[in-house]
Amino acid sequence: MEMRAVEKRRREWLLGRAVAKDAVGRLIARHTGEALEASAIEIVPDGYGCPQVAGEPIGHLGMRPAISIAHSEGTAVALAAFNAAVGIDLESLARRREDFETIAFSRPERDLLEELPAALRQEWALRMWCAKEAAGKASGRGLSAGLLALQISRIDPDTGRVSVVWRGESFHVSTTRDDEFVFAAVIRALPYPDAPMAQPATRRVQ
Ligand SMILES: CC(C)(COP(=O)(O)OP(=O)(O)OC[C@H]1O[C@@H](n2cnc3c(N)ncnc32)[C@H](O)[C@@H]1OP(=O)(O)O)[C@@H](O)C(=O)NCCC(=O)NCCS
Repeated sequence: MEMRAVEKRRREWLLGRAVAKDAVGRLIARHTGEALEASAIEIVPDGYGCPQVAGEPIGHLGMRPAISIAHSEGTAVALAAFNAAVGIDLESLARRREDFETIAFSRPERDLLEELPAALRQEWALRMWCAKEAAGKASGRGLSAGLLALQISRIDPDTGRVSVVWRGESFHVSTTRDDEFVFAAVIRALPYPDAPMAQPATRRVQ
């Protein structure tokens, strides 16, 4: 990797850490009233690369939130939640590879795309890609099991919803487009009695 690419990756990594701490801090402030310093929130990857809030359970709630991070083109987003697994992704439409649909999607997934009006297909191919990444992150395994291990079973252009199946479990991913970026996020409730509580955050390089 050339020096500029290494520096860009490092800056985006830092931005990702900062935005994840924003999300965790706001989530805890909202639900406990406690104001945590960013330095009190430690984020470390587990063996699969999935980011985790480290150390003792934080906040008066005595729970540790799940977090997800994505960064692209100088923008980083994060999602933190209690009582849920979370996944988030963003990608730029401008940097889309021409051949990625054939690599990323199975025949049934390409059929879903072909049912859409031609004007929507490029954006929806990216929404489907982002949805797979977000679901992969919520599963904790990312894309390590291979792109086709995550299968899209349904897309809904009216709501932006994309349903992704991984090991027989469905992840209902919300997708949106904002200018050149496509975003995907999923909050998957865990089998706890309490409802999920989630907090998103975004940061851009100035
Ligand atoms: C997780 C993954 C989908 C990220 O995709 P990406 O487009 O490179 O980068 P994004 O900006 O969208 O996301 C990066 C973040 O994903 C998160 N992440 C990485 N592995 C993860 C996992 N197993 N579960 C959940 N989140 C994960 C990290 O927080 C990472 O940011 P960080 O390195 O700054 O902490 C991808 O890196 C992955 O699957 N890695 C695992 C195995 C692999 O490399 N497979 C390649 C074959 S397809």
